[in-house]
Amino acid sequence: MADKVILAYSGGLDTSVAIKWIQEKYGLDVITLTIDVGNERDFAAVKEKALKTGAIKALVVDAKQLFIDYFVFPALQANALYEGQYPLATALSRPLMVKLMVDAAAEEGATAIAHGCTGKGNDQVRFDVGIKTLAPNLKIIAPAREWGMTREETITYAEQHGIPVPITVNSPYSIDECLWGKAIECGILEDPWAEPPEDVFTWTKSLDKTPDKPTYIEIGFEKGTPTSYDSEVMNGVELVQTLNEIAGKHGIGRIDHIENRVVGIKSREIYEAPAATVLLQAHQALEAMTLSKDQLRFKQKVATEYADLIYNGLWFSALNRDLSAYILSTQRFVTGTVRMKLFKGHTNVVGRRAPKSLYNLGLATYDKGDQFDQSAAAGFIHLWGLPAQTQAQTQLLADIEGPLSLLAPEEPEEEP
Ligand code: ARG
Repeated sequence: MADKVILAYSGGLDTSVAIKWIQEKYGLDVITLTIDVGNERDFAAVKEKALKTGAIKALVVDAKQLFIDYFVFPALQANALYEGQYPLATALSRPLMVKLMVDAAAEEGATAIAHGCTGKGNDQVRFDVGIKTLAPNLKIIAPAREWGMTREETITYAEQHGIPVPITVNSPYSIDECLWGKAIECGILEDPWAEPPEDVFTWTKSLDKTPDKPTYIEIGFEKGTPTSYDSEVMNGVELVQTLNEIAGKHGIGRIDHIENRVVGIKSREIYEAPAATVLLQAHQALEAMTLSKDQLRFKQKVATEYADLIYNGLWFSALNRDLSAYILSTQRFVTGTVRMKLFKGHTNVVGRRAPKSLYNLGLATYDKGDQFDQSAAAGFIHLWGLPAQTQAQTQLLADIEGPLSLLAPEEPEEEP
C-alpha cells in the first residue's frame, strides 16, 4: 500500500490537477480535504469531483463556526487590519486549514500534506510555516510551486487526464472567499491605474444600484464579541452572513489595496468585506465608550502587531498567545449596543450605549447638570504646560527675534 497525503482541495482546476500530478510524481494515495469557511460551494459536487479525479477518499469539513469563534472574532476584538486596510480574511482562514489538515493527517495515517499554493503568494508561507510548527515530521508538497506549468499547460494536462475543466477557468481573476471577505487578484487588476471593472464584485452592489433609503441596524456586543442583530440573538456565523448580505446591498466594504506581501512583492488586491467593515467600525465605537484613552492608544499598537503576525503566517506562535491575552483582557467591559446607518457605500455609527460606559454626561454637558469643576482647570493647565514653557524660555526663545520664527523649521546645513 502506498503512503498517503492529505491534499487541501478546493475543487478548482489547480487542486484537481494536483490529485493526478501527485499520484504520478510521488506515487502517493491522495486523500482530499475540503474545508468550508463560508466559501459557499456545492460541497457534494466537490467531493464527487475529487473521487472521480482519483482521490482514494474525499473529506469535507464544515469549519464555519470554528473559523468565526477562534479566528475571526479574536481578530475583530483586536481591530486587526493589515496595513490599515485589509481585514485579513484569507490570512485568518489558513491557520485553521492547517490545523484541520494536520488533524486529518494524524487520523488517516498520512505522511505528507499538499496544498495548491504558488511560489509567489502569502498562502504558501502560512501553510508551510503552520505545518512545520504543528507537525514538523510531515512532508510538504506544493505542486503548483514545483511543476512550473503555465495556465495553458495546466489546462492541457487536465484534458489529457480526463479532468473536467470548469468554465470559470476563463475568468481572468483569482478569487478566494470566506465569511470574513473575498479577495480578488489578477487580470486587469494587476494594472494599479485601472479601476476595477464592475464584474469583479459579487458581494457588493455598485452605488448606482444601492437603495435610495438608508438601513439602520443595531449590533449588540458582549465582551467585544457581537452577539445580536436588531435585538435578536444570533450566532456568529449567522450574524456575519446577515451583515455581508445587508451591507453588501448598500455597496459597503469594497477595498482597493496595494499590499506588501511576505515574499517581497507589492500586489494590487481588491477585497469585498461588508460584514468586516461594519463590525470593525461598530466594535471600535463601543471601545471608544468603554476603554480609557491610554488603553485605546496602546491597543492600537497591539492591533498592528497582531495584524502583522496573522498576515505573516505566524498564527501558531507565542507572540499570538501573549497578544491575545492582552486583547482579551481589554474586552471585559466592551459590552453594549451600537447603532449603524448603512447608506450608499458607507457605514456610519450613529448611536452607542454601554452599561459600563466611561462617557459621563455630568462631566461632558454644557447644559445644566454640569458637574465638571471649571475652577480646577487653570491650575491643571499651569502644571501641564510647565515643561513646554520652561523649555521655550531656556532654549527656543533665548536667541531669536520673535516667537513667530518658532513656526519655521530650522534650515538644514548645506551639504559641503
Ligand atoms: N492578499 C491576500 C492575502 O495574502 C489575499 C490572498 C488571496 N489568496 C488566494 N489564494 N487567491 O491574504
